[in-house]
Amino acid sequence: MVEFPPPRPIRFPPGGTMNDRKLVLVTGGAGFLGSHLCDRLLADGHDVMCVDNFFTGRKQNVEHLIGHPRFELMRHDVTQPLYVEVDEVYNLACPASPVHYVHDPIQTTKTSVLGALNMLGLAKRLKARIFQASTSEVYGDPSVHPQTEDYWGNVNPIGPRACYDEGKRCAETLFFDYHRQHKVEVKVARIFNTYGPRMALNDGRVVSNFIVHALKGVPITIYGDGGQTRSFCYVDDLIDGFVRLMKSPAELTGPVNLGNPGEFTIKELAELVLELTGSQSKLTYRPLPQDDPRQRRPDIALASDRLGWQPKVALREGLINTILYFERLLSSPERAANGSHAPARARGATATAGVRLAGGQE
Ligand SMILES: NC(=O)c1ccc[n+]([C@@H]2O[C@H](COP(=O)([O-])OP(=O)(O)OC[C@H]3O[C@@H](n4cnc5c(N)ncnc54)[C@H](O)[C@@H]3O)[C@@H](O)[C@H]2O)c1
Repeated sequence: MVEFPPPRPIRFPPGGTMNDRKLVLVTGGAGFLGSHLCDRLLADGHDVMCVDNFFTGRKQNVEHLIGHPRFELMRHDVTQPLYVEVDEVYNLACPASPVHYVHDPIQTTKTSVLGALNMLGLAKRLKARIFQASTSEVYGDPSVHPQTEDYWGNVNPIGPRACYDEGKRCAETLFFDYHRQHKVEVKVARIFNTYGPRMALNDGRVVSNFIVHALKGVPITIYGDGGQTRSFCYVDDLIDGFVRLMKSPAELTGPVNLGNPGEFTIKELAELVLELTGSQSKLTYRPLPQDDPRQRRPDIALASDRLGWQPKVALREGLINTILYFERLLSSPERAANGSHAPARARGATATAGVRLAGGQE
């Protein structure tokens, strides 16, 4: 007779008894940020309904939650209406890295705009509070540094990035019109560059690119002289900002900048990654693309004053966690190869990973 091994004990994030236990919908919940948000909400004692079409998200990001009594996973595209009963909505569904969002730009705009309309309609019917994952890209190529929330931005409406930038801008418009016209309680966060475990291997963002190249021992490409600065927020800090904003008094609608104001040059980032991985990868230099911003840094005074929020995780510490994640992923070829569960047509997005857009090293 075949002997079955004893079942493995399943470890769930610690739950809690709480008076304000809610059923929370997270769209884009199988993505990088969404999966960490699901973890945090479950750990806070809430019930979570995770909705995703797996375009860039992966079941692996939430596989540790499958079977959790307070977690459910639903394949659904937010461009279609969703009829569920929930207490709160976090709307994160949207491809976030340039290689993914330019793959099917019309679908990207549809996801932002129709996704916002569908989720706002749901929130209106349910009288539920709704959070929008907006982006620093609404500032476009800014003429104001660092960017405060009252800066209206400088976006090219017809360029290749417009599907994302203008899609997110239109979503913000819809959030504030639903708030004014239908009294929906909205919370809009403008997110700056965030990194951490569960970033996609192939998303072309600077932190994952540098780490993966360093771990593989292949050259790390720097555009320009590497003197351009960027700021990097660790995922746990960002998620804490989400939760604080969602819990804040109703009149704080946002938009609120969330990001880490610490500035590092691209060269400093590359050198730190080489040091932490012990990699022998060489740094190679290519010309700076047109429109590559010299500097990108959030002004987080509003989040700090109104939410008592400050990022806590230092770049070195966050990078170590992220490197450990990519080391594990790369040591398991099946997991590394097995990316999103999107249909083959959508998975083709990864084939464009070499595409570089004006805007450069994100
Ligand atoms: N990570 C960052 O640095 C950053 C910065 C600014 C804004 N944001 C915003 O945060 C959100 C999450 O970003 P992320 O970094 O986790 O990206 P991600 O690509 O890992 O996650 C996006 C998720 O949305 C899902 N999705 C895409 N289109 C969908 C659709 N039509 N219906 C249902 N699900 C869909 C994807 O499958 C994926 O799971 C996005 O809205 C993004 O614009 C992220």
